[in-house]
Amino acid sequence: MSQETITPNEFKLLRDYIELNCGIALGEEKAYLVETRLASLLVETGCQDFGSFYRLAAHDTSPTLRDKIVDAMTTNETLWFRDQHPFEILKAKLLPALAEEIRAGTRFRIRIWSAASSTGQEPYSIAMTILEFCKANPGIRPEHFEILATDISPSALFLAKSGRYDAATLARGLPDYYRETYFEQVGAVWAVKDSVKRMINFKRFNLQDPIDSLGKMDIVFCRYVAIYFSEAFKRQIYSGIARLLAPSGHLIISAVESLRGLVDDFDAQSHANGTYYRYARPKGAP
Ligand SMILES: C[S@@+](CC[C@H](N)C(=O)[O-])C[C@H]1O[C@@H](n2cnc3c(N)ncnc32)[C@H](O)[C@@H]1O
Repeated sequence: MSQETITPNEFKLLRDYIELNCGIALGEEKAYLVETRLASLLVETGCQDFGSFYRLAAHDTSPTLRDKIVDAMTTNETLWFRDQHPFEILKAKLLPALAEEIRAGTRFRIRIWSAASSTGQEPYSIAMTILEFCKANPGIRPEHFEILATDISPSALFLAKSGRYDAATLARGLPDYYRETYFEQVGAVWAVKDSVKRMINFKRFNLQDPIDSLGKMDIVFCRYVAIYFSEAFKRQIYSGIARLLAPSGHLIISAVESLRGLVDDFDAQSHANGTYYRYARPKGAP
């Protein structure tokens, strides 16, 4: 028998509230998740049950409680150079083509968006890949790049901006060379060097908000986030990204995500056992 204290109706109300505020769509079997992740907020707010907690949240006009709920419900799992192939693709395929345009004088800036940057490992891995690329490609400088890293979770974003990690977090996927080159140890903490940090602009952004305000992008990393969303919301995000991408732009998603049946603005390419997507206006589109 279930141990849950959240009633089916309370779960339905909170599930709808969560989807409305961050797009995370929870199946019927996820009542335990709402219950465990929101339990401490129930205590913090002095509510005695999930029904009164929902009413408090629904009538709260300040964003504070909503932010805490979103923070509690998001999954911030990430690691350095996650899956490796996206960074191989960046280094071997995407950066060389864009660097050619810089050398030819037809482009001055390369814009990259990490669309669910969590605690920073993804955008910092992108920045370190670029810094290595610059070392190997005279004439291409870090100033040619602009990385935008966004996330909805205030606490994940705070950690990302701080660029400070404990040894266990640092060890998850980061090769020794990168640790020695791009981090400095400050007591028990490892801090990312300013040369890496200054390449990234961190910003709070909800993928439900109008995407066009972010400006044109050349490369978008949107990984391990659409898995939490409904089909309709996935379609909205991927077509928003298609609008945002420059004509030669690329999208990188994770291997557990797919564009199939959602958008037809992309051509799949493969490299290093991974897939990436080139923006291609659908045939016959105006
Ligand atoms: C599992 S992490 C993925 C991190 C990174 N992209 C990676 O691949 O390692 C998912 C992130 O998506 C964020 N997220 C969830 N819903 C969001 C939304 N509506 N808008 C922006 N970010 C969202 C979460 O806060 C979380 O940090």
